[in-house]
Amino acid sequence: MTDRDLEVRLLTGCAILREAGHLARDYFLRREQLAVEHKGMQDLVSVADREVEQLIRTRLATAFPDDGLLGEEGGGDGGEPEGALWVIDPIDGTANFLRGMPYWSVTLAYLVAGRTEIGVTYDPVHDELFWARRGAGAYRDARAIRVSERTDPKQAVLGSTYTFKMAVEDYVRLIEGILRAGADHRRMGSTALMMCHVADGRLDGCLTMYCNSWDVIGGLLLVQEAGGAASDFLDGATLTQPNRAFGCAPGLCPTVEALTGVKARS
Ligand code: IPD
Ligand code: CA
Ligand code: CA
Repeated sequence: MTDRDLEVRLLTGCAILREAGHLARDYFLRREQLAVEHKGMQDLVSVADREVEQLIRTRLATAFPDDGLLGEEGGGDGGEPEGALWVIDPIDGTANFLRGMPYWSVTLAYLVAGRTEIGVTYDPVHDELFWARRGAGAYRDARAIRVSERTDPKQAVLGSTYTFKMAVEDYVRLIEGILRAGADHRRMGSTALMMCHVADGRLDGCLTMYCNSWDVIGGLLLVQEAGGAASDFLDGATLTQPNRAFGCAPGLCPTVEALTGVKARS
């Protein structure tokens, strides 16, 4: 895979996510009409998730027929991390989306031989596109972004996530640890978008004790490329297994490592 191949994939991935985000926003504006299904406890899905993923899959398969695809709704090639693979979450923050809360995103990552090369997340409500290429920095639209310079947990605001698939005790322990460290916390409802907001310094970190590869894998690259510390999702999990993860300002890395029990990628 040449530099040029990766650049073409970055530009194409960005264009596809914008198109997918516009489709998602159209559904968002008429969300009352969508039939909602329950995948599990507090785990919802609608035609919007499926149609947006289908659009992304169709566009990627047309542009790059030899690349693998793994998506939250459609499944795919996660068991073969050796090749070149796109990882898709068509709507991250579906619960917010279906309730009309404007914090959700459309997110995509590109991996080659198990290494994330590209991460792109689009926030269609605010029309902000976050993107990173390994070694080339992180950007919000045309502007280079950086993580915050905070080092004192007592001045930090950390994002967190919860799903009923994890033990309640693990989440309670995490939040207790954050508060005892003197940090404030937010659970915004889209892990991918929280990682973008770590990358551009709005949040000082995002900590998750249970997430899927499609929630975070592009965001972890964004945080790293924005000068932050991030865990390696594939350390201790495959692309189709849940894992713990974090991205944070470098000055808060020791605190966040202690809170999550996960080490930053070296
Ligand atoms: C959810 C979001 C949320 C996290 C949930 C995820 P989804 O993704 O990432 O931040 O707390 O665990 O399920 O289901 O809306 O794609
Ligand atoms: Ca998700
Ligand atoms: Ca999703």
